[in-house]
Amino acid sequence: MRNALFLSFLVLVGCEGKVGGTALDGGGGGGGGTLEDGGCPPQGRNDEIRLALSGACVSCHSVGNKPYFASLSAFENGLVYDEKWVKRGDPDNSALIKLLEGTNTGSYPQMPPGQTYAAVLASGRVTITIEELKTWIRELQPRGAVNEGPSPDAFNVRRLRADEMVLSLMDQLGLTVEDFVDTSQTGWRDTEWTARGGRLFVWPTDWAPGISGQYVSDSRTTERYETLGGAVVLQGRKPDVSLGPAAMQTLVQMSQAWCKLAIEKSGNTAVLRGVTLTDTSATKSTEIKANIAQLHLRMLGEPAAPADVDEIYEQVYRPLEPTGVKAAWIATCASFVRHPKWLAY
Ligand code: HEC
Repeated sequence: MRNALFLSFLVLVGCEGKVGGTALDGGGGGGGGTLEDGGCPPQGRNDEIRLALSGACVSCHSVGNKPYFASLSAFENGLVYDEKWVKRGDPDNSALIKLLEGTNTGSYPQMPPGQTYAAVLASGRVTITIEELKTWIRELQPRGAVNEGPSPDAFNVRRLRADEMVLSLMDQLGLTVEDFVDTSQTGWRDTEWTARGGRLFVWPTDWAPGISGQYVSDSRTTERYETLGGAVVLQGRKPDVSLGPAAMQTLVQMSQAWCKLAIEKSGNTAVLRGVTLTDTSATKSTEIKANIAQLHLRMLGEPAAPADVDEIYEQVYRPLEPTGVKAAWIATCASFVRHPKWLAY
C-alpha cells in the first residue's frame, strides 16, 4: 500500500511539466484514459475529456484569448465550469455540445470550424463520442472545494484594449505623437492636433487634446481607434472585448505603417538594433537572426527559442528580402503585432 502511494506520487510529480508541454506543442492529444499525453495519466474525469478532445482543438486554443486546451485548469475554468458552455446535468442545453454538433447559435456554429464532429472522430483526432460527452455532462459533479481558491495558473487572458494597443505599439517601436502630427506651429501640443498624411495615426477619441477637424482625413484617426474596439466615454461606448475581423484588419494596416515609420525614423534603434538596411543574408544572416530575437523579446516580452527565430527568418524575413530589405523588416516587425502573445494580456 505504501509503495503504491509512493509510486503514484512520483508519477504525478514527474508529469507536471509535460502536461503543459504537450498542450503547447500542438501535438494531437492522447486518448481518454491512456497514458499518451506525454506519459501522464489524466488527472480525473475532466482531464480525460480534455485529452480526448484535445487533438481537434489544441492547435487553435492553447494560447491567445481562448486557451481552453492549454492545461486542465484552463479547460475547467474556460469550458467545464462556465455555464455558458457546460450546463451541469443538462447536456442538451450545453452550448459545448451544440458547438460540436454544429448547431450552436452564437457567432460560431461549429468547432472545429468547418468540420463535422463525425469526420473529426473518424480521423482519430478526438477519441470520444458525443454520447459519451453527454454522459459526462449528465454526471458532472460540482466543482470540488479544492478548486475554489484562487489558482495561479487559472487563465484570465484578455485581448489588449485599443488604447493599450496604441500606447504599447508606439512605445515598442520608438515612436511618439510627434511622428504623427504636425508640429510646425509653436504651441501645437496644446491645440487640436493635425494628423500628418499617410502615417495611419490612431488616437483615442476621448483623449486630449483632440484631433483637428480641419481636414477630412483626420477623422480617420479616431475612426480607426473605434474600429480597433476602443471605448468612447462621451458616446457611452464600451471597449470591445472581442477581436473581430475589422479590428484585426485595422491593426494589420496600422502595424505595417508604424513599423515602416519606425524603421525610417532616423536614429531609432527600436526595430533595427543590430543591423542596418544594407545588411543582407548573403553576409549577415547571424546578425539578422539576432535582431529578430531581440525584436521577439521586445515585442512579445519573452526570449525566443532558436527554432522560433529560424521560423520567422525563413518564413517572414527571407522570402521578402529579395524585394527589399526594408520590406522584409517591415513584415517581420508587423508579424509580431499579429502574434497571440502580443494581442493578449
Ligand atoms: C482552426 C482553429 C480552431 C480549432 C481547431 C478550434 N477552434 Fe474553437 N475557436 C476558433 C476561433 C477562431 C474562435 C473565435 C475566437 C474568438 O472569438 O476570439 C473559436 C472560438 C471557440 C469557442 C468560443 C465560441 C464563442 O462563440 O465565443 C469555443 C467554446 C471553442 N472555440 C471551442 C473549441 C473546441 C471545443 C474545439 C475542438 C473540438 C475547437 N474550438 C477547435 C478556432 C478554432
